[in-house]
Amino acid sequence: MEKITEILIPADRIQKRVKELAEQISADFSGKEVVMICNLKGAFRFLSDLCANIRIPVLIDFISFTSYNGAKSSGDIRIVKDLNIDISDRQVILVEDIVDTGVTLKFILRYLGKMRGARDIKVCTLLDKKSKREIDVYLDYIGFDVPDKFLVGYGLDYNEHYRELNYIGVLEVE
Ligand code: IMP
Ligand code: MG
Repeated sequence: MEKITEILIPADRIQKRVKELAEQISADFSGKEVVMICNLKGAFRFLSDLCANIRIPVLIDFISFTSYNGAKSSGDIRIVKDLNIDISDRQVILVEDIVDTGVTLKFILRYLGKMRGARDIKVCTLLDKKSKREIDVYLDYIGFDVPDKFLVGYGLDYNEHYRELNYIGVLEVE
């Protein structure tokens, strides 16, 4: 069985930080239109709250890859839901829930750039688990640095559970 042993980031801190990130993105792309791509499913809440606070025009799209089985990365990445919008020559902001090893992100960035022809891609991640990094990836916007613990809530899951929580919690699995 598994249980949440700690509230790492309470709901109000998440909301405050998401507002700050939306302000920063609005300022950096002032007067421009960007395509925000949400990496499903983990980033759906983050994307939604970012959009609620953004002050530039945005187009929204969703992409989905598989790689995780429970709490462990399988390393085998496949697209399960592709983009609907044509992003060729567009300014893209990829919205991520968490960057861990960086394997998934590296794969997505290559896909969006090389295969789909995005002009420029910025990465906006809610959580950054730096200590687990295996591949060097540049993160443009980071919500919170987090320790090497398994986290759930605010979109992040464990076997599809806990996404509905408004806070980020530490999950211990026995
Ligand atoms: P990476 O390829 O190792 O960087 O994995 C990134 C993906 O793994 C994220 O988009 C999450 O879906 C998942 N992931 C990594 N760490 C956690 C965690 O602590 N809780 C829930 N999902 C995680
Ligand atoms: Mg994910």
